[in-house]
Amino acid sequence: RRVAILISGRGSNMLWLIEAANAPGFPAEIALVLSNRPDAEGLTRAKDAGIATLAVDHKNYPTRESFEQALDAALVAHDIAFICLAGFMRVLTDWFVERWAGRMINIHPSLLPLFRGTHTHRRALEEGVLVHGCTVHFVVPELDAGPIIAQAVVPVVPGDTQESLAARVIVQEHRLYPQALRMICDGTARLENGRVVFAQGW
Ligand code: GRF
Repeated sequence: RRVAILISGRGSNMLWLIEAANAPGFPAEIALVLSNRPDAEGLTRAKDAGIATLAVDHKNYPTRESFEQALDAALVAHDIAFICLAGFMRVLTDWFVERWAGRMINIHPSLLPLFRGTHTHRRALEEGVLVHGCTVHFVVPELDAGPIIAQAVVPVVPGDTQESLAARVIVQEHRLYPQALRMICDGTARLENGRVVFAQGW
């Protein structure tokens, strides 16, 4: 199972996915790290980890569609079976999402369906929720709305700031994302008629 990780930034989740996939018996191989930003810190970190990297700069394409065609062509050329979005900051069109339906997952720093979109930690503090966390879900055309594969919960504690809360959540992201990737690659979780079906006995 050849997996591509799509990033735009520092790529800490990416590094944990690479690390997990290096373990013997992991049902997937990280075959490509692709960034829409050529200067993404994560690209250097992926190269250092010995992974093939590629920058497809969205600024070089006149339309979202032409950018995504280039993205898709690169993924097909690398024989990719699954995509992990890991801090990939481009909204994807229905065309791309449907092409990769059931084969593309994302990690989001909130307990979905709460706090779709950005600034999730700030909004969690503003709302006064007492638990927060992260979610791995299949990607569907609607932003941060796909069927949920795995979630992890953290407490919100008195005196928390956006930074302290983000730091607590990211630890769980790093643990959860490899677990969820394993689940879709070994068939423990799959998308069927718009819902996640978990293997029996799991
Ligand atoms: C993570 O918080 C992830 O949930 C969100 O963007 C951030 C990416 O961080 N989608 P990193 O690049 O993996 O360090």
